[in-house]
Amino acid sequence: MAEREKRRKVTVRSLRKMKHSGEKIAVLTAYDAGFAELLDRAGIDVLLVGDTLGMVVQGQSTTLPVDIADMIYHTRCVSRVARHALVIADMPFISYASTAQALGNAARLVREGGAHMVKMEGGAIAVEAVAHIVAHGIPVCGHLGLQPQSVHKLGGYSVQGRQQAAAGKIRADAMALQEAGIDMLVLECLPQTLAREITSLVDVPVIGIGAGGGCDGQVLVLYDMLGITAGRTMTFVRNFMPGSESIEAAVREYVTAVKNGTFPGPEHSFD
Ligand code: KIV
Repeated sequence: MAEREKRRKVTVRSLRKMKHSGEKIAVLTAYDAGFAELLDRAGIDVLLVGDTLGMVVQGQSTTLPVDIADMIYHTRCVSRVARHALVIADMPFISYASTAQALGNAARLVREGGAHMVKMEGGAIAVEAVAHIVAHGIPVCGHLGLQPQSVHKLGGYSVQGRQQAAAGKIRADAMALQEAGIDMLVLECLPQTLAREITSLVDVPVIGIGAGGGCDGQVLVLYDMLGITAGRTMTFVRNFMPGSESIEAAVREYVTAVKNGTFPGPEHSFD
């Protein structure tokens, strides 16, 4: 308890300080109060209420069926108990197609869900909505690289940015999102050299998932790092349960591994 009391609330300002001081940021997804309370106690800096809840909680095959009501409900469950961690809520599929729709839904995630920040997939296409939300005082996290809401257009979940032109577009998108006012950026499934380069290019904290060890922090889907998810394990995932005596011990091990740079290792990264 004493250790818990010492920890300050994580804010957009403290996250930026962590980037500049080189302290790695440990992020996990959370969808309910029980796990959120445990993750917060175990030292997770940021809780991401991801639309992956569609897959791991609802049993859907993609994130596309998740709607704003689902996101508000789960964000509220998490934000109610998060004492230290910053809470980010995903904007679900086609909930930010116009600036007015984007602001309305972002405001609901903050007002009704208790989110501190919202996350949106997309580069140039999302810039106008991002700028509009930011102008109204809501922090936004961008999401580039593999964008699961575009799975049908992409033709599957594969590593992005391997060709020169695609890498150039992701770099340009990162700069455009920074210009629009994002406070954080998630990079998913990118070659590690490209992710490292973008991380040093932008001034905001960059959180990687399948993007190598050169980012300012890491995120995993909670169910993946606890080995709950059935089926094939993705290359970039490490199951922290083996050798841990409890779920809390596994989460603490994840925090330590992210902070000391031992996760992700080369075996979890793409070239
Ligand atoms: O929805 C989610 O959980 C995410 C992470 C995988 C980054 O966007």
